[in-house]
Amino acid sequence: MKKFLKKKYNYKNKNVLITGGLGKIGFKLSKILYEEGANLAITDYISKNADLKKIKNFTNKNRVSFFNCDLSSALDRKKLFVDIKKKFKKIDILINNAALTGDKFGKIEKDFEKQDYKIWNKELQVNLISVIEIIQKLKKLILKSKSPTIINLSSIYGIQKPDFEIYKGTSMKNQIGYSISKAGLIQLTKWFAAYLAPKVRVNCISPGGIIRNQPKNFVNSYKKNTLLKRMATEEDIISGILFLASDGSEYITGQNIIIDGGWAN
Ligand SMILES: NC(=O)c1ccc[n+]([C@@H]2O[C@H](COP(=O)([O-])OP(=O)(O)OC[C@H]3O[C@@H](n4cnc5c(N)ncnc54)[C@H](O)[C@@H]3O)[C@@H](O)[C@H]2O)c1
Repeated sequence: MKKFLKKKYNYKNKNVLITGGLGKIGFKLSKILYEEGANLAITDYISKNADLKKIKNFTNKNRVSFFNCDLSSALDRKKLFVDIKKKFKKIDILINNAALTGDKFGKIEKDFEKQDYKIWNKELQVNLISVIEIIQKLKKLILKSKSPTIINLSSIYGIQKPDFEIYKGTSMKNQIGYSISKAGLIQLTKWFAAYLAPKVRVNCISPGGIIRNQPKNFVNSYKKNTLLKRMATEEDIISGILFLASDGSEYITGQNIIIDGGWAN
């Protein structure tokens, strides 16, 4: 059994490209993969001292490269592809994790009536269009891997209608641009799973809400919507990503794994 697990869940010497790799899920996941011996290409919009501090966690600079890139900018993306191709000859695992969540970019959440096309455009660029372009421009590197795999991070809001009741009495919002971009990622996953078959596996993870100091009344209402009566943790989501990134899932492609404690239908 030990031998089986070791063989299937082996990330050593795998080249992993992760977008949003300094975000909350991205950073924890990057650290685990780094500790397991993977070579990392981490891209993020590096804007704060906190980001630079995070980078210091990766002491072996031969195994980790950082690419500062605003994924909403076509110019930045163009530079990213050139830089990655200079540094890497193949990509084994691509994790499309970045999303415009508003954390680093100030409060992007606004009432629907106060939003405009600029924010919808940016959400679509970062959460969806950049993923299409990353796959298109790095396809050759991905095809050089023996068992390449792509994992896209969607959301339960890409699958189901929002429950606006749970936001009542809080300043939190449910953004239309976020939901439609995440819905697009699920179909994008199926499209690329077919287009890149049988060589590349392409799958998606749709997380439910992660517990992070949200207002108590929100958390309580949220929990009631789940069968497991709790919000998710980052570890819940990372476990799923690691599964899809490993040979443990080598007969799985085109799937959307919902990790939401049993909220979605
Ligand atoms: N947190 C949740 O409850 C939750 C729920 C469902 C899905 N998800 C999804 O999981 C993934 C990770 O979420 P997280 O909670 O770690 O979020 P996070 O905000 O901590 O991380 C997102 C990362 O994306 C990066 N990013 C945002 N805009 C960018 C841009 N223009 N250019 C480059 N990078 C950019 C951010 O800098 C950040 O590091 C996201 O795709 C998110 O939509 C999260």
